Amino acid sequence: MFFHEVDQLTWTKILRVNLEATTWVTRSLIGPMLHRRRGAIVNISSGAAVVVPSHPLYAIYAATKAYVDKISRSLHVEYKQFGIHVQCQVPLYVATRMVSVVAAVDKPSFFVPSPEVYAKAAVEQIGIGSRCSPFWAHSLQWFLAELMPENLLDTWRLSIGLHRRSMS
Ligand SMILES: NC(=O)c1ccc[n+]([C@@H]2O[C@H](COP(=O)([O-])OP(=O)(O)OC[C@H]3O[C@@H](n4cnc5c(N)ncnc54)[C@H](OP(=O)(O)O)[C@@H]3O)[C@@H](O)[C@H]2O)c1
Repeated sequence: MFFHEVDQLTWTKILRVNLEATTWVTRSLIGPMLHRRRGAIVNISSGAAVVVPSHPLYAIYAATKAYVDKISRSLHVEYKQFGIHVQCQVPLYVATRMVSVVAAVDKPSFFVPSPEVYAKAAVEQIGIGSRCSPFWAHSLQWFLAELMPENLLDTWRLSIGLHRRSMS
């Protein structure tokens, strides 16, 4: 949807889940981990915020995922010295319930792993670096996106958003 079309209840819920819940849960875990001097926190951002320069017609979702990215990478630097590993993971499409609803992608393919395949790759990355896109084909897409001009990616994302909007 265009930003002005999103009803208040919907965008409030997105903020509550992606910003408030992530912040509260992360905050509540840090204390006990500090006490033990070890722990790992993995927050899930999205290619919508990190890989593409804009995500038109999904603006609120993408913006909240940029928050997840920034807070996680900042906390990584703050808490590394205390033995706590905070990591931001950046998935692109994974064949989950969410992506079948918002992107009409309902089965795994070369670039779209099943949840099981993705989760295995994700767990293997815990403890390695402040940010990653754990599934190798997502990393390849990220690399290719970085080679493309921003205005081309903007136009491409807008066309996808408009297409999906016309289908719903
Ligand atoms: N799938 C992708 O392509 C993709 C790409 C980039 C990022 N991500 C991110 O990956 C994460 C997991 O998404 P997913 O694809 O695994 O989606 P999913 O299969 O739809 O799972 C979403 C989970 O969030 C829970 N949830 C949703 N709204 C909630 C609410 N208001 N309060 C509490 N829990 C709520 C759901 O609980 P119930 O099962 O009880 O409904 C479910 O466990 C999300 O943060 C998503 O933004 C996914």
